Amino acid sequence: MTKTDRTEEETVAYTIEGGVAWVKFNRPEKRNCMNPKLNRQMMRVLHKLEYDDSVGVLVLTGEGTSWSAGMDLKEYFRETEAKGLGAIRESQSEAYGWWRRLRWYQKPTIAMVNGWCFGGGYGPLHACDLAFAAEEAQFGLSEINWGILPGGGATKVATNLLNMRNAMYHAMMGENIDGKTAAEWGLVNEAVPLASLKDRVQEVASTLLQKNPIALKATKDAIRRVMEMTYDNAEDYLIRAQEAANFFDNSGRKEGIKQFIDEKTYKPGLGAYDKSRQAE
Ligand code: ACO
Repeated sequence: MTKTDRTEEETVAYTIEGGVAWVKFNRPEKRNCMNPKLNRQMMRVLHKLEYDDSVGVLVLTGEGTSWSAGMDLKEYFRETEAKGLGAIRESQSEAYGWWRRLRWYQKPTIAMVNGWCFGGGYGPLHACDLAFAAEEAQFGLSEINWGILPGGGATKVATNLLNMRNAMYHAMMGENIDGKTAAEWGLVNEAVPLASLKDRVQEVASTLLQKNPIALKATKDAIRRVMEMTYDNAEDYLIRAQEAANFFDNSGRKEGIKQFIDEKTYKPGLGAYDKSRQAE
């Protein structure tokens, strides 16, 4: 099979290892740019893994030298546009749909940016709760270099994550920044040498796996929601969100309090309680 014969199913690869789903953009020969096939397949994979009990954390990374070179200029733009507005809207909703699914995913998510990350790639980058990059990775809002504005959410991502001067410079100049600068600017949490990227992400994933999963989902949603609220609205939302989380799991926090206050077996300031002793 030549590389151009990649089936829809082959555009995304994944493995599940020790509670972590390692999901890959899998069009390395096209630098993992997102075509309609990949967008549809990614939604299927996210759907399959979201409530799989063997998955506690999802990592999104790229096969080969790229994380994602953004939207596929040929298949996502040119070929879709040739079919008219209906086709354009359909392929937009396929892409935006899986990014939205990822933004509100049930499990904690980590972007592991191993290489190129351009334009449309900022949608899934921002959708992941945490992001770790190789120092060697390159990030760019290259839209300006081929004559469009950073659409598909990319401008919103830039203004959510960067300060105004950096967002402006990044979007207007079309220059790339490396992983280190991306970390300094707040696009990612941290940059480490490519050779140690997977180990660092594994370490973070292992820590997340020790936490109460209901509390993690409530926490990640709360961070995204309260960003857009007044203080009073946020205060109210957080009361409701905690009460809703208690409905799903009230034994976790009781166990956490018991292990600290009664048994003195751990300190919440220094790590998580022993989840394995929590009653179902
Ligand atoms: N859309 C369509 N095809 C792409 C894209 C893309 N975004 N990115 C790479 N490819 C294809 C190339 O056309 C090439 O195809 P071919 O082998 O059939 O000729 C193949 O992937 C490999 O790409 P090269 O350019 O040869 O790879 P190289 O490693 O030299 O360069 C780089 C990598 C810098 C990422 C380059 O491919 C590039 O500039 N890509 C476009 C990045 C971009 O601007 N993306 C769009 C952002 S805007 C948006 O997403 C809305």
